[in-house]
Amino acid sequence: MSKKVDSEKSKKHKQPRITQFVPELKDTEKSPYYLELKPILKWVGGKRGLIPHYDKFFPVSFKRYYEPFFGGGAVFFHLLTKGRIQKAKLSDINEELLNVYIIIKTSVEALIQELKSGKYINDKEVFYNIRAEELSDPILRAARLIYLNRTCYNGLYRVNKQGKFNVPYGKYPKNVRIFDEKNMRNVSESFQNVVLTTDDFEEAVKDAKKGDFVYFDPPYVPLTDTAYFTDYTSEGFGIKEQERLAKVFRELDKRGCLVMGSNSSASIIWELYEGFDIQTVHAKRYISCDPNGRGGVKETFIRNYKINGEE
Ligand SMILES: C[S@@+](CC[C@H](N)C(=O)[O-])C[C@H]1O[C@@H](n2cnc3c(N)ncnc32)[C@H](O)[C@@H]1O
Repeated sequence: MSKKVDSEKSKKHKQPRITQFVPELKDTEKSPYYLELKPILKWVGGKRGLIPHYDKFFPVSFKRYYEPFFGGGAVFFHLLTKGRIQKAKLSDINEELLNVYIIIKTSVEALIQELKSGKYINDKEVFYNIRAEELSDPILRAARLIYLNRTCYNGLYRVNKQGKFNVPYGKYPKNVRIFDEKNMRNVSESFQNVVLTTDDFEEAVKDAKKGDFVYFDPPYVPLTDTAYFTDYTSEGFGIKEQERLAKVFRELDKRGCLVMGSNSSASIIWELYEGFDIQTVHAKRYISCDPNGRGGVKETFIRNYKINGEE
């Protein structure tokens, strides 16, 4: 992964209008969370590999943490482990995904028992049988998604028009680890102070106040038409949604929240977020199933604040 971090402005982009500076993290202020937390699920667009590049740009102290496009939650788990999050509201419009987190929060022992029942083995026939099950029990649904996420092709999440998971079998080693029991209990404990919702992003941040930190990691603006991965849910996330998101970003800025967003390096980002600080990170990222799409990619991140001492 390249270490290069640029400041990149389109010709039209004016000087950043940064209204807030937040303190730099001092070593003595670091209060590592006593639990080492890892994401429960692999998620397309997950930020895990990019965190070393992003970390210095996150604010160190804030009131409540909001992550309205939660997915696998790599940033949340990272900031929590670093002791920077006290209270949080995590949301994602994907109900099956949120069900996993709600069950981990409320019924972790029953979920672990189910996952250890002997049913969830990595085998093609078993995979297709489990995938086809009609389930209403939320614990069984959570166990199924955790299992499918570990055994399906590339850990993708995709549903058909009827809302049924349709990613094929992934051919991982027979003994692939379906879940990490200790981590799951730790995540459950960490969720006890966390609000979990299936709200749309706009609704999810309605109660954010001055001093809160909101991190938006939406489905990205496509660099090419074919690269636009819109199938996180059966609804896509098109340009109208990107515009609505940029409007919400501005509203939160006016309210005095600290706001950060990540997106692709499509030129429209500079128009949508004109006036904010926009930087580009060059990194290796696995977003596409196409082996040719797996080289270095540029990601942008947008902020309405700077860290003290930052240029
Ligand atoms: C790029 S992924 C987030 C990845 C995440 N940051 C991670 O590290 O795994 C985008 C997420 O946004 C969710 N999403 C799509 N449209 C949404 C909406 N209108 N409101 C809230 N969440 C939405 C999708 O379900 C998906 O999980």
